[in-house]
Amino acid sequence: MATRYLVNFALEEVDRIEVGFLVIGSGIAGLYTAHAASAYWEDVLVLTKRGIDDTATEHAQGGIAAAVGPNDSPLYHYEDTLSAGAGLCDPTAVEILVTEGPARVEELMRLGARFDRADGRLDLTREGAHTRRRILHAMGDATGAEIQRVLSEAVRSSPKITVMENHFLVDLLVTSGVCWGVLALDWRELRLKAYLAPVVVLATGGAGQIYKHTTNPEVVTGDGIAAAYRAGAEVMDLEFVQFHPTVLLLEGLPRFLISEAVRGEGGILLNAQGERFMPRYHPMAELAPRDVVVRAILQELERTGSQVVYLSLEHLDPELVHARFPTISQRLKVYGLDLARDRIPVAPAAHYFMGGVKTGFYGETSLRGLYACGEVACPGVHGANRLASNSLLDGLVFGGRIVEYARRGVGEKPARWEARGEGLIPGPPVDYSRLKGELRDLMQTWVGPVRCAEGLSRALRQLARWDTLNRYEATTLEEMEFKDMLEVAYLVTEAAWMRTESRGGHYRADFPQPVPRWQRHLIFRRQV
Ligand code: SIN
Repeated sequence: MATRYLVNFALEEVDRIEVGFLVIGSGIAGLYTAHAASAYWEDVLVLTKRGIDDTATEHAQGGIAAAVGPNDSPLYHYEDTLSAGAGLCDPTAVEILVTEGPARVEELMRLGARFDRADGRLDLTREGAHTRRRILHAMGDATGAEIQRVLSEAVRSSPKITVMENHFLVDLLVTSGVCWGVLALDWRELRLKAYLAPVVVLATGGAGQIYKHTTNPEVVTGDGIAAAYRAGAEVMDLEFVQFHPTVLLLEGLPRFLISEAVRGEGGILLNAQGERFMPRYHPMAELAPRDVVVRAILQELERTGSQVVYLSLEHLDPELVHARFPTISQRLKVYGLDLARDRIPVAPAAHYFMGGVKTGFYGETSLRGLYACGEVACPGVHGANRLASNSLLDGLVFGGRIVEYARRGVGEKPARWEARGEGLIPGPPVDYSRLKGELRDLMQTWVGPVRCAEGLSRALRQLARWDTLNRYEATTLEEMEFKDMLEVAYLVTEAAWMRTESRGGHYRADFPQPVPRWQRHLIFRRQV
């Protein structure tokens, strides 16, 4: 679909800043990678789209999974991850995740992360599809905020790391298959700048904002995936989008995640008629894999004609509920709801991209010098469906591995820096904010948790109509974001259309079963 660049530019005409190690994104993956890199590089630069804490990590509630409990082992964690991944996990990537994970989590604790404890021991909870209690959490349900706090402090206090906020990744600079920098928009100054480095790490998160209903913050518009694809990097598994089953749905109010840990601690789901329905759908009931819970909810919504199902904790001790989930309780209170006593109206919303920029076991992409970690990346660790709370862990483990790999000296400087974007024409005035809304509606309706050939074809036709806008030079942040969202929406829809089976987070109503010949990955690469 895409053109090579979003803007016309000549490298010699933009400010150029050279650094040793460049990270784009400031969630757990980006900040941890920057922190780890500062042990070997004197000049690490983090570019981030808004403020350092405007990340999906900041909003993560449930926790971080690691086999650190007395009845647990990396082997059990490995088995649970593979089983959630529905045949598409890379077993080696999973083995790396579960065996290296505990040490990375300990490092976070050494940096100052305070995970909740009971009787002096880590207080581990359970979430869907985990057979053991292995989720570490902080301040009850503010795990992401605690990790973000610790990593932001570590990065801010390091003399070797600079953080530049309000920098939007426009495009990657690549020559002959080697990435050597990025073009970024300093959107406060409205200036294009080139940041050049032998090691470029994408940690820009997923693309939840291509959906109308999402748990992701506004910044998560797929910029890293889109820029990498435009530059010719391989992207993989993009049809697999995870929808979170329980997101607060109150008309006119922003969506708000109600952590799976709430069900892990005994919360149950009721339909509009007040019946508990999950035991009818799966032996693990409310703790079944997320895609199973999501589809069960959708069936109940259709059966009862309601917009929401209800999460109920009425049978639990209210004091314990409020103490365990202070952030959620507080937010619900603002909306006049009591987590312990009221039935909380919820519905599924887009939450996590299993697919992304294809990487190896050290975060290396198909372009030399370009690495990716966290949600933007796809090392194959989540397969077709991510096990809850594995994503924070994934950011740490593969971020750390990038540093190990790159410090062996694989980064290289091109003989000459040269790049030029040209041929884009000035466009007519277009309301890109409105188009973003239309794109989100389209994706929610036709490429949501339940898909079919007819809906996917309709979506592809509309996306192709919008593609004509790619002839125009992008001049605003809104337009650039729309074009990134469009690119990712197209990749997701195309992959979903091609995969004529159901597996993990991808469900086709017209092909409702998994098909053995589809136990393989869809990899896209743009010819540049
Ligand atoms: C949650 O708290 O339910 C989200 C955890 C996750 O997506 O891993």
